[in-house]
Amino acid sequence: MNAEPTDGPTDETDPQPSTGASAGHRLSAALTVGSRVVVRYRLAEGAGAGATDFLGELVARDEDFLVVDTRSERVKLIRADVIAAKDVPPPASRRGHAHERISADDLEKLMAKGWEALDRGGLGDWVLRASEGFTGRANSALVVGDPSLPVDKAVDFVEKWYSDRGRPTIFQVHGERGFVVEELPVAAALLERGYTLGGGRADWQRVLIMTGLSAAVPPLTEASAPVTADAELKMDWLLAYGQQRSIVPGATEAVLTGSDGQLFLSVSEPDSGRIIAITRMAIHPGWAGIFGLWVHPDHRREGLASTLVSAVAMVARENNMPAIYLQVSADNTDGVAFWEALGFAVHHEYTYLSRPNA
Ligand SMILES: CC(C)(COP(=O)(O)OP(=O)(O)OC[C@H]1O[C@@H](n2cnc3c(N)ncnc32)[C@H](O)[C@@H]1OP(=O)(O)O)[C@@H](O)C(=O)NCCC(=O)NCCS
Repeated sequence: MNAEPTDGPTDETDPQPSTGASAGHRLSAALTVGSRVVVRYRLAEGAGAGATDFLGELVARDEDFLVVDTRSERVKLIRADVIAAKDVPPPASRRGHAHERISADDLEKLMAKGWEALDRGGLGDWVLRASEGFTGRANSALVVGDPSLPVDKAVDFVEKWYSDRGRPTIFQVHGERGFVVEELPVAAALLERGYTLGGGRADWQRVLIMTGLSAAVPPLTEASAPVTADAELKMDWLLAYGQQRSIVPGATEAVLTGSDGQLFLSVSEPDSGRIIAITRMAIHPGWAGIFGLWVHPDHRREGLASTLVSAVAMVARENNMPAIYLQVSADNTDGVAFWEALGFAVHHEYTYLSRPNA
C-alpha cells in the first residue's frame, strides 16, 4: 500500500537550526494554536539543569515567542530557546486503554479538528461551526466545557452567530451512553425554546462515538484487496463519496481536506478500476479518525470495509497513533454491527438539537 500521512504527529527537533540570530526551533504547521503541546526549553545560562519541558495548550505563537498555558501558569517562551516541540494527545482523564482514557469533551474537541468547519467561532469552550450546510458536525455549535456566559445568554449568542450567517442554529450535545438529554441544562433550555431532538432527522437522534485500539485491528493479509491511500483528494474518491451523501460543491472538498493531516483510502474493482470502497482517515497526535467509510452495495460482506480499516490501523500503528475513533448513527444497525465485530466499543454519544424546520 502506498501511504504517506501529510502531517502526522510531529517530533520536531530541528537538528540543524537555521543560521542567524534566532536559531531556535522550526515550528511546523501541525503545532497550531489550540493544540496540546510539549515544549523542551533551554534554561537561562548558569541554571542548574540545562533544559525543562512545558506541557499545555499552545495559545499563541509568532516569529519570536510561543505562549503555552500549563496547568499552573501561562508561560511566554522565546522561540530561539525552544529545543524541540511537538503535539501530544489529550490527557488521560479516566482509567483504561489509550482509546478509553480520554474524556468525552476532549474527544469531541479532537474530532472537531478531524472534520474542520470552514467558518469557526468560539464562545468560551464552545466551538461554533458553519460550512454551508455540509454535514451536521460542521454546521453546529459544539457544546463542550464552559461557554463563559449563563446558559440563556450563551444560547442567544449562538443563535445570533448563526443568524448573522443566514444559517439555522443547531447544537450538538453529548453525554455518557444512554444519557438523558433533558437533564443537560443547555438541552433543557433549548427544548424550552422549541428546539427538538435530532431536528426531525432519525440519523441525528443519537450518534455513537466508538473507539478502539489500532493494535487490536487485524492486519492486512496477502488475501486483502489492494488499498490505495492518497494524501490528496482525487475526483474519483469524491465521486464515490457522493454516492453516499449530498455534496455541497466547494464546502465538501474544503471540509474533507481541512484537517492538519488526512488520507483518502480506497479499493477499486480490478476489471473496471471503478472505486467500490472508500474511507477518510484523519491524523492527530496519538489518534486516528475514520470518516465516510462506505462500500458499494454490490460489494458488501466481501471484507472490503475491514480491509480499509486494517489499512488505517496499519498507518496508525506506524505513526504512533494507538487509538482510533469514529462516529456512527445509532440507527445505522449495519454500521454499528460492523464496528462491534471489529472490537470497537461506544465511548460516549451525542445528539443534535435544532428547530423543527432547520
Ligand atoms: C457498514 C459497511 C461499511 C460494512 O462494509 P462491508 O465491506 O460489507 O463489511 P465487511 O465485509 O468488512 O464486514 C466485516 C464484518 O462486519 C460485520 N458486518 C458487516 N456488515 C454487517 C451487517 N450488515 N449486519 C451485520 N454484521 C455486519 C460482520 O461481522 C462482517 O463479517 P462477516 O461478513 O464475516 O459476517 C457497509 O455496509 C456500508 O458501506 N454501509 C453504508 C455506509 C455505512 O454505514 N458506513 C459505516 C458508518 S461509520
